[in-house]
Amino acid sequence: FITPGPNGPLQDREVEVSADGRSLMKAAVDAGVDGIAADCGGALTCATCHVYVDQAWLDRLPPPSADEDTMLDYTAEERRPNSRLSCQIALTPALDGLCVTLPQRQW
Ligand code: FES
Repeated sequence: FITPGPNGPLQDREVEVSADGRSLMKAAVDAGVDGIAADCGGALTCATCHVYVDQAWLDRLPPPSADEDTMLDYTAEERRPNSRLSCQIALTPALDGLCVTLPQRQW
């Protein structure tokens, strides 16, 4: 995870999780990663688990569902082509090394 630092510079945080199908959001919250609010707990109703997926990984993810695509219009920070909701990304062994950047804010 690349997160905005308190004074602007980016901080890099590597998190070791098992690829058990749990969501990226849940893995991040469990690991204490700051910057993912996940207010709805993964119910796809809050858009506060927004992440920017590293371009190298974008094509390896299943495309967003229609519901995720709709919710991506409600993120606090601008939606970009690589925007995803982390509660909709299931961690699998194929995603070993996945890199995402967190937006400056989720509200
Ligand atoms: Fe609410 Fe992902 S946690 S949309």
